Amino acid sequence: MSNIFDEIEHTDSSSKIIFKDKKPLDHRFLPDKLVHREEQIRQIAKYWVDALNEVTPSNVTLYGKTGTGKTAASKFAREQLIDAANNKNVFVKVEYIRCTDYTTEYQVIAQLCQKLGRDVPNRGWTKGEIVNTFRDIFKTNAFGKKLILIVILDEIDILLDKDGDGILYTLTRTDNVSVLSISNYLDFKNLIKSRVTSSLNDKEIVFPPYGADQLSDILTERALLAFNDDVLEDDVIPLCSAMAAKEEGDARYALDLLKNAGELAFDEDSVKVTSEHVKMAKDRIEHNKVTEIIQTLPLQQQRLLEAILNLTKNGEEISSGKLYDEYKELSKKDAVTYRRIFDFINELELLGIISTNTISRGRGKGRTNIIKLQCDEDLLETTLFSI
Ligand SMILES: Nc1ncnc2c1ncn2[C@@H]1O[C@H](COP(=O)(O)OP(=O)(O)O)[C@@H](O)[C@H]1O
Ligand SMILES: [Mg+2]
Repeated sequence: MSNIFDEIEHTDSSSKIIFKDKKPLDHRFLPDKLVHREEQIRQIAKYWVDALNEVTPSNVTLYGKTGTGKTAASKFAREQLIDAANNKNVFVKVEYIRCTDYTTEYQVIAQLCQKLGRDVPNRGWTKGEIVNTFRDIFKTNAFGKKLILIVILDEIDILLDKDGDGILYTLTRTDNVSVLSISNYLDFKNLIKSRVTSSLNDKEIVFPPYGADQLSDILTERALLAFNDDVLEDDVIPLCSAMAAKEEGDARYALDLLKNAGELAFDEDSVKVTSEHVKMAKDRIEHNKVTEIIQTLPLQQQRLLEAILNLTKNGEEISSGKLYDEYKELSKKDAVTYRRIFDFINELELLGIISTNTISRGRGKGRTNIIKLQCDEDLLETTLFSI
């Protein structure tokens, strides 16, 4: 029997027409140059260069909104330093940890031990045991050379929020270890206690949002690698760039738009990617985002959304009191308290799925919260129904 993948690869000529190689449009792709981030990379390198002279570099913090190139720049600097260290024959390691994958101090330290060749369990040891094992790495060094370790803690806000600042305390108080933290929030230091701020003593590097022209340069570079010649109509990259510039200069969103536009053109067997495809791509991305958010919500919040949906369909104005009644009806025995519902409402509002508006009922009658759905009703219904 013929192989279906072979068949599709060889008969479906449009796939060859649109994309040359889809990998460069993937989030994880690391281009070999990062335009408009030369300055930030140079700053990181200026601190890290100490490692090449066997001096532990300063701790560094990168700040900036989503999609401003923080992860890419840190990985880029990492590759460059590893290259330089190999050439100079110094013993430097740079380990990248994404704190969404390792959410406690124990997990991060265990992961670092494993990456550095120590066989430690993922759970079960006391914190003292794991930390001592980690610190021993820097004492007993078979090579007789001094190991310098740089730890990149990406998305550090999540870890600090869940687990406190113990990880920073431990790392910054281990000889030969330097930390590069990456945060999406300028006020992330509020999550750190002063005992840690003093030992962190970090240098800060800010990643500003990209403007439309900068995004356009980034997309142009990627498009050369990803699309065949003359496939993109002239207005495609400017449109993706303008749309992403509005979304806080997010390069990831810009790349997503371009990739989805290409895929939609491909699905239609079109030989060109047009601005229409970009507009469709925007809708598709929004659709997927809402669906994903709703699917990953805790059950009680999904119920609350269902209650909001029911009231919306009845054309009713939704006050928090009325919403609670409807929610209780749906939840029966395991309903949470009225107080908790306020937290849920806040969270759903932060996610952009609903909005709230406080109105005054007139003198002496107090004020009420009016809740409105901010996403598509049908989309919400099908998503909730599918769960
Ligand atoms: N200056 C740039 N040049 C090329 N690609 C970039 C640049 N900045 C960001 N990107 C790409 O955009 C996407 C998002 O960047 P990322 O580094 O993940 O942002 P952040 O970590 O700040 O959220 C990645 O795919 C990255 O490769
Ligand atoms: Mg990132």
